[in-house]
Amino acid sequence: MKTRITELFGIKHPIIQGGMHHVGYAKLAAAVSNAGGLGIITALTQPNAKALASEIDRCHDLTDQPFGVNLTFLPSLKKADYPALIDVIIKGKVGIVETAGNNPQPWLPALQDAGIRVIHKCTSVRHALKAQSIGCDAVSVDGFECAGHPGEDDVPNFILLPRAADELTIPFVASGGMADGRSLVAALALGADGINMGTRFVATRQAPVHPNVKQAIVDATELDTRLIMRPLRNTERVLTNPAVERLLDKEQALGSQISFDDIVEEVAGVYPRVMQEGQTDSGAWSCGMVAGLIDDIPDVSDLIDRIMAQAKQIIDQRFGGLLAS
Ligand SMILES: Cc1cc2nc3c(=O)[nH]c(=O)nc-3n(C[C@H](O)[C@H](O)[C@H](O)COP(=O)(O)O)c2cc1C
Repeated sequence: MKTRITELFGIKHPIIQGGMHHVGYAKLAAAVSNAGGLGIITALTQPNAKALASEIDRCHDLTDQPFGVNLTFLPSLKKADYPALIDVIIKGKVGIVETAGNNPQPWLPALQDAGIRVIHKCTSVRHALKAQSIGCDAVSVDGFECAGHPGEDDVPNFILLPRAADELTIPFVASGGMADGRSLVAALALGADGINMGTRFVATRQAPVHPNVKQAIVDATELDTRLIMRPLRNTERVLTNPAVERLLDKEQALGSQISFDDIVEEVAGVYPRVMQEGQTDSGAWSCGMVAGLIDDIPDVSDLIDRIMAQAKQIIDQRFGGLLAS
């Protein structure tokens, strides 16, 4: 399939694996890129720039296809050394950077002067237009359904994507709630040039996370996610568990008086415990409503082949049949 996104990034299929904390290592990124999509390493999961450089080298060893690095700008306990990370991304000959969380403008000249394409992840049309106006090459439009940070506007993709299509001139992918060939065809119909998936890629054989995490996603339904940190205007969609429910109780009890310190136990340092040790109930971790559509743990290449085959079947047969009758 050829779209503006496959052309821009030099990939075979318009399917991107979004950056994911403690999931987006070279192993998964390379598997996605080898399957014809665009795999992405998550910079902030690495302890420092030197470790990111090694992860990028590892990814080059595992694939000769294009891959990207995610740079997330969100409030965090430990301030990242972005100039050093960008330096190793440039030196590591990474062709694509996915930015997220905040305006990437300060970092664009360094990245784009080095020939790197920048796709910025946004949760609203106004942020997507801002990204376009500052020169981003593409955007990823994340609807309310998405895992991670959906923003504060709560606009689902059935509205957000056609709104983005009406306003944007640069290519964009649909993110949040994407799982299969139906999602891809729907995203294309709504005006997107491809899809970005997070949760779906966590439940794959190559995702370097504990089997408990994959099973938790398979077991979850579309009703099992919660929005946390809304009072802090840092809303995150996560899988529910006892720690998340405790956090929500605190939010309710403390109201606007709540501070990050009140919930630190449920959110800080959780990812290694969940993703590597499999303690899925130990705190809050991102998961999308799309968990309700995920009921297996396939090989990445089988998943991508399946998405493309289903998309083709819908376009050729279902749509063709509808028009013929
Ligand atoms: C476990 C997990 C961790 C994530 N971590 C990040 C991150 O560090 N930075 C980021 O930009 N997005 C992060 N995301 C969001 C994804 O890149 C993607 O935008 C989102 O998962 C799309 O929604 P979906 O899960 O419905 O496909 C994460 C998602 C998951 C599931």
